[in-house]
Amino acid sequence: MRKRILAYGRLNTHQLDALKRDFDVIDLARCADSSDPTFRAALAQAHGLIGSSVAITPELLDNAPHLEVIASISVGYDNYPVEELTRRGILLCNTPDVLTETTADTGFTLIMATARRVVELANYVKRGDWDTSIGPAQFGSDVHGKTLGMIGFGRIGAAVARRGALGFDMNVRYACASPKPALEKELGAEHRQLDDLLAESDFVCVTVPLTKETHHLIGGREFAKMKSSAIFINIARGKVVDEGALIAALEKGEIHAAGLDVFAQEPLDPTSPLPHMDNVVALPHIGSATHETRTAMAQRAVDNITLALKGKSPISPVNPDAR
Ligand code: DGY
Repeated sequence: MRKRILAYGRLNTHQLDALKRDFDVIDLARCADSSDPTFRAALAQAHGLIGSSVAITPELLDNAPHLEVIASISVGYDNYPVEELTRRGILLCNTPDVLTETTADTGFTLIMATARRVVELANYVKRGDWDTSIGPAQFGSDVHGKTLGMIGFGRIGAAVARRGALGFDMNVRYACASPKPALEKELGAEHRQLDDLLAESDFVCVTVPLTKETHHLIGGREFAKMKSSAIFINIARGKVVDEGALIAALEKGEIHAAGLDVFAQEPLDPTSPLPHMDNVVALPHIGSATHETRTAMAQRAVDNITLALKGKSPISPVNPDAR
């Protein structure tokens, strides 16, 4: 019997055709709603899932008796109950590596855009307000030579730091569970306890995954420790930050600005003040969103699901012990 795949992410024709050669594919093209009856009916028959942006709950798994593998088109896997999947013998795969550089580009874009006030000043020109030479009211802050504090120093964190250290002569500090001597040597990075990093950094950039331990890792106490000139960047997950405390810190001038690609609620709550603040650059979670990288992520997911459903080892399993 051919195995069945439920595809609910953005796969191109070539990728769908490759899956269809080996499997029966139910293609729901970018479905993001797990309560959709079509999604639930397809799930009940599926041996494999490929997609992203749908939170998979134990309750949904109860409705998926044949499920063997989930190939997420993302590196982050906070949308999945990993322990529960492992207990049920269901493999979860993600897409590390292929998005590292693009996501780091997004992080650095936010560093530059906030420091040099790119969005605010582009809007100033667009509104027709540029009627005389600019002055201190439009000046920004330097990026080169400043101190970049990385919270999380995995692949993406290191790639942001590499841009800062090698491209902009920045001093890199990092806070993470264990020191990384190879990166210290390569980038001149120095390990710090979180509180020291917050106090020392001109730019604080978060790249940790969202887990029980990192939920609201940065809140009022942490913003109070930052310099009033500090710029806060989040390319990780919105819930790593207490968003209310971030808004208060920006309003009170406890920090200078923020560059945000991720939010507690996505799409962003329409009542949020964040996108309306001049000192905030808010993006719609574009971390890995280039044509090249999203194609590579989807391809990695296709390779993972194909290997796993054929009984082979996938390239990037999150819970290899599931089998
Ligand atoms: C991921 O893959 O987890 C990213 O957040 C998507 O941009």
